[in-house]
Amino acid sequence: MSIYDQRYYLRNLNLLRDNVPSFEQYPFNLDAIRELSELSFHPKVTYLVGENGSGKSTLMEAIAVALGFNAEGGTMNFSFETAATHSELYNYLRIARGARRPRDGFFFRAESYYNLATSIDEMDRAGGFGRPIIDSYGGKSLHQQSHGESFLATFLHRFGGNGLYILDEPEAALSPSRQLAMLARMHDLIRDNSQFVIATHSPILLAYPDSIIYQLSSDGIQETTWEETDHYIITKQFLNNRDRMLEKLLVDEDDE
Ligand SMILES: Nc1ncnc2c1ncn2[C@@H]1O[C@H](COP(=O)(O)OP(=O)(O)O)[C@@H](O)[C@H]1O
Ligand SMILES: [Mg+2]
Repeated sequence: MSIYDQRYYLRNLNLLRDNVPSFEQYPFNLDAIRELSELSFHPKVTYLVGENGSGKSTLMEAIAVALGFNAEGGTMNFSFETAATHSELYNYLRIARGARRPRDGFFFRAESYYNLATSIDEMDRAGGFGRPIIDSYGGKSLHQQSHGESFLATFLHRFGGNGLYILDEPEAALSPSRQLAMLARMHDLIRDNSQFVIATHSPILLAYPDSIIYQLSSDGIQETTWEETDHYIITKQFLNNRDRMLEKLLVDEDDE
């Protein structure tokens, strides 16, 4: 095995199609899942992109749960659950891991970050864990910071390298300049043997060069390039032709 191979925590996943009860019902009826048999992970960054509702979160959550993360996010130690809404998909995934095990791990989902913040506050109030948990997130309750600040605090302080980080739309909280800061931090963590799986709509976050991008669409899941994504094309078109695009978008009824 080459040195390169040893950097993997996740190598690939297989959908155990023969075990799937029906491709007519959620989550197996999603276009992205119905056609899925195998997906390879990049040793550094694997991106999932696709329209709203294309199944990114469903797949991310199933990967995270199959690896032992709580469906609502956090480290592997968090077992809180406010509503058991995660799909059964994780039961039908076989995930091939690399030779090394991650020493750190985090499943971030913008959708339930609030619950994670509450859970940390509650555990620290209850005590009994030695050092307050919030210390490793930068020391200040995540509820007392803005969404973006608290996420960045988690990312800067809590993520320690040698880790597997599964992030679902982390940009939801971040300004463009903080997204750039996040790319730089990702680079540090990757040099410290970390691996990322990221679902994102942000052309900035999507720009890490040493990566693979998978597009979820009605055609299933396909590899694509940064320049071929809607995120890149539409953003670029809009920034270059704002007036012309606005003219088309904001048509007054009288003009029609
Ligand atoms: N528990 C559920 N039962 C049925 N359909 C669901 C459930 N959760 C999500 N869906 C549907 O699955 C689709 C994919 O959702 P999701 O994975 O959240 O998409 P994305 O993260 O790409 O926006 C959506 O159309 C959504 O309505
Ligand atoms: Mg989603």
